[in-house]
Amino acid sequence: MCGIVGYHGREGARDILIDALRRLEYRGYDSAGIAISQDGSVKIARKQGKVSDLWNAICNENFEGSMGLAHTRWATHGVPSERNAHPHKVGDITVVHNGIIENYLELKESLKQDGRTFVSDTDTEVIPHLIVNYLDKGSDFEEAVRLALKRLKGSYAIGVMRDGSDTMIAAKKESPLLVGVGKDEFMIASDAPAIINRTNSFIFLEDNDIVIITNGEMRITDFDGAAVNREIKTVQWTGAMAEKGGYRHFMLKEIFEQPRALTETLIGRIREEEGDVVFEDLNLPDVSKIRKIWMVACGTSYHACLIGKNMFEANLRIPVETDIASEFRYRDPILDKDDLVILVSQSGETADTIAAMKEVKKKGLYTLAICNVLGSTLSRDSHGVIYTHAGPEIGVASTKAFTTQISVFFMLMLYLGKLRGVLDGDDVRRHLTELKKLPHHITAILKSSAAIEEIAQANMHYGHFLYLGRGINFPTVLEGALKLKEISYIHAEAYAAGEMKHGPIALIDENMPIVVVSPKDQTYKKTCSNIEEVITRRGKVFLFTDSFDHDMAPKVNAVFVIPETIYELQPILSIVPLQLMAYYMANHLGTDVDQPRNLAKSVTVE
Ligand code: G6P
Repeated sequence: MCGIVGYHGREGARDILIDALRRLEYRGYDSAGIAISQDGSVKIARKQGKVSDLWNAICNENFEGSMGLAHTRWATHGVPSERNAHPHKVGDITVVHNGIIENYLELKESLKQDGRTFVSDTDTEVIPHLIVNYLDKGSDFEEAVRLALKRLKGSYAIGVMRDGSDTMIAAKKESPLLVGVGKDEFMIASDAPAIINRTNSFIFLEDNDIVIITNGEMRITDFDGAAVNREIKTVQWTGAMAEKGGYRHFMLKEIFEQPRALTETLIGRIREEEGDVVFEDLNLPDVSKIRKIWMVACGTSYHACLIGKNMFEANLRIPVETDIASEFRYRDPILDKDDLVILVSQSGETADTIAAMKEVKKKGLYTLAICNVLGSTLSRDSHGVIYTHAGPEIGVASTKAFTTQISVFFMLMLYLGKLRGVLDGDDVRRHLTELKKLPHHITAILKSSAAIEEIAQANMHYGHFLYLGRGINFPTVLEGALKLKEISYIHAEAYAAGEMKHGPIALIDENMPIVVVSPKDQTYKKTCSNIEEVITRRGKVFLFTDSFDHDMAPKVNAVFVIPETIYELQPILSIVPLQLMAYYMANHLGTDVDQPRNLAKSVTVE
């Protein structure tokens, strides 16, 4: 999705902004642009393509000045092109924007009637036009921005500069934006990793905040100009955490970081000896009254919810309903005031998940977020939050966020189980002992990555893959297939193994390889029958299981053994080889692993 950065300080803005844009690349984008205030006017450069294309175009040009804005665009209105790239300049006003202006057609029509001409196909271009309109009518810069913002419907984070002015103005409504507070400098950015190398002090802006940076000072107002106070928060992430650290891709680094990410998510929360789990500041309402739990999310986070459902229902005996956030928000679900609604999001900025949270809050229910990004909208606006301490996830395809989300669900299940009296200290202790072994088990799987790479390389020419799993591993294979689709562009579909005979079996022949995840649990034998059915039809089988099977091994094309754990935790282990397989196929096929085509890391529009 679009990314915004702005710099207002004493150093040259150009290099700082280009560096920040590179750190925002992971969000997914198709064009980039920069604006620098120089000698009384704002100079702009834009390019379709990568930030490196923009840099090549400007590196030898005179772009000097210590105030500027920059942008990566992910097309919503108007094709990816230089003309539609940001910044957009109208008269003496320059704007960058993330979000969607829903009433732009109406505004454009009325601005055209006032004699204004448009040069792009974007919704954004109405913003500088509106500001110029108010300036022409006598407003000063700040007032003109405020009046323009009041006319907009939809979501936006914007940065604005004016020719001949030292002032930078930024504002936000429903799209993420923060202010970085450095030494003698302020920055604005869509997210913290973009500017974490310059500061770790941030103000996470709220909806309807307007930031005015001028003369080395910064203040925040509401849309009527009244002063607003916002706290400066310090985040613990470092610049190095958001870099590749010797790995070829962020995604590979993040897969290999999973033992550490899990350990950090558990630290301070589990008390093995006492058989207890501790969460701070949850402020949960009376949990004995909960009759139903909802788990709502998008993409990979939704798959974590499906796993959460499996473990919650099995252990807590409370019905759990899972929903894709974009469906939940429109289907008017039947919520009871005592229901617990859990919203899961790596970024905490996914528009549909935030909208779902708002729907729930409107109905007066308690909302609990499971989130990875401190200060994100979801984490701030939910009643309670449990952070996954996975560290910055940069690769578009989510990996360590997924496994840490499952670990949070597991701890929450134990926490609720104890509070509701269905689990005692001994049960919790036994479960925690298994949980603590996971980082070690994942390290063991990662040590066998060469075996997975071999399978990947030998089979990446297939156009389709079918993934099969059952029970708690059905969501695991949904996630495994999603990983393959996302980054290698190979078509992959996942089915509950028992459903194979109801349709997908028609697809099976020698050109349809099957990935099966089946630890030796109660349905293992049944899955083996499915495997036999595949083999009879000449399908290739790759089996991921938790102990070597001497009967099946000679029949299938490869067996990969995953360490044994308890049922609830199996997905945390079995997803790792599937993540690796998708990664190695994509890498050998030469796709853009960290920024796959058409995808965005943080989907801040509906
Ligand atoms: C995008 C990303 C996915 C992610 C999904 C939900 O589609 O590409 O990797 O799972 O958004 O994101 P969230 O930040 O809410 O977990």
